[in-house]
Formats: sequence, structure tokens, C-alpha cells
Amino acid sequence: MKILACTISIGLVYLSLAPAWADEPSIMVLVAYHSMGGHTEKMAQGVVEGAQRVPGTKVLLKRVGQVTADELFSADALIVGSPVYWSNMAGEVKTFFDNWQFKFGIFPEWKMRNKVGAAFTTGGQLSSGKELTMLTILAAMLGNQMIVVSGGGAFGASATTEGDSPGIDEKELAGAKELGQRVAEVTWTMKSAPKR
Ligand SMILES: Cc1cc2nc3c(=O)[nH]c(=O)nc-3n(C[C@H](O)[C@H](O)[C@H](O)COP(=O)(O)O)c2cc1C
Repeated sequence: MKILACTISIGLVYLSLAPAWADEPSIMVLVAYHSMGGHTEKMAQGVVEGAQRVPGTKVLLKRVGQVTADELFSADALIVGSPVYWSNMAGEVKTFFDNWQFKFGIFPEWKMRNKVGAAFTTGGQLSSGKELTMLTILAAMLGNQMIVVSGGGAFGASATTEGDSPGIDEKELAGAKELGQRVAEVTWTMKSAPKR
């Protein structure tokens, strides 16, 4: 009887000391971006902050050229940010997508299939390619059978950075946070759904 009581109390002590996070479920959101002047990077940081509002969400922030195959394929969601270059995504971001096959060998398994995807952008001028930039990012994701979502704006989060703009203003940053939060929420919903 004494031995049993002792075993139970040791077990209880172990359980109370075991880290609370040990077997808590989590999701991983990868935020990948290109930025030369820092504007898109600032939006990326807002996206990260928004995703982190959702409990249990781990976020990895990386420049597109530094993402490894393992990081890409182990993420539950991917949010890609690009400056507008000639009304489209930057070449660095397009190369990132192309390398999913050239460097990471994504096919024939469709390794990004059913992961959640979203986009954000910054552009110098009003109406000069931000929506097209986000749509081309989303198109690359759709081509990989990802599940794309918006947030912050109709196609993702965006900011105008040149002319009389103060750079990234509070409203634009709030849009970036909203995008990150929505992606994390949708990813949780998908991950928690019963498998059929
Ligand atoms: C090569 C090049 C092409 C650009 N083309 C456009 C464009 O078509 N439309 C636009 O609104 N801004 C354009 N811009 C401005 C950038 O999109 C804008 O300054 C952006 O915020 C830069 O992001 P970053 O600070 O993260 O590098 C261009 C900039 C460069 C360097």
C-alpha cells in the first residue's frame, strides 16, 4: 500500500513539473518576403505579430532566398510578401516559387497541397500593380493546390510607400496584422477539422 501511494505521488510530482507545452498542439506559419528598402520587411513584421496573436501559433520569418525545403514543407501556412516591381512580384520572389521545383523537388507529390497561403505587398505609387502582385503570388499558390485566403484587403495586405506617403502607416500595418491573424485562424480551423 505504501509503495502504491509512493508511486502515485511521484507520478503526480512528475506531471506537475512536466512543461505545460510538452504536448500542446501547434501550427507553424512561415512568412517569406523580399525587401531592399525595408518597407515590405516592416509589413512582414506586422504579419508575424498578427499570426502570433493566435495562441499556439509558431511563426518563422525569413527572406525568400533563405527558406529551406524543410522549412517550406513542414509549414502549415505560407504568407509571401513582395515589393511591386513593374506591376508584378519581384524577380527574387518568382525565383523562390520556381525553386520549389528546381531546388526543392516539389513534384510529383504536390508537397504544398492543402497548405494555407496568402500574400502581401508594398508599392511606390497608388494603383500601380499592388493587386496584380498579390494575385500573381496567389496564382503560384493556387497552381500548387494551396488554399489561398485574403485579409487586410481583398487580395491580401498592402501599403503605398513613395510620394507623400509616410512609408508604412498605422492603417497599413494594421492590415498586415489582420492578414497574419486570419491566416493563423484559418489554418487552425483546417488543422482541427476531423479527417474524412
Ligand atoms: C525595379 C523597381 C520597379 C518598381 N516598379 C514599381 C511599380 O511598377 N509600381 C509601384 O507602385 N512601385 C514600383 N516600385 C517601387 C517599390 O515597389 C516600392 O518602393 C516598394 O515599397 C519597395 O519595397 P522595399 O522597401 O521593401 O524594397 C519599383 C521599384 C523598383 C526598384
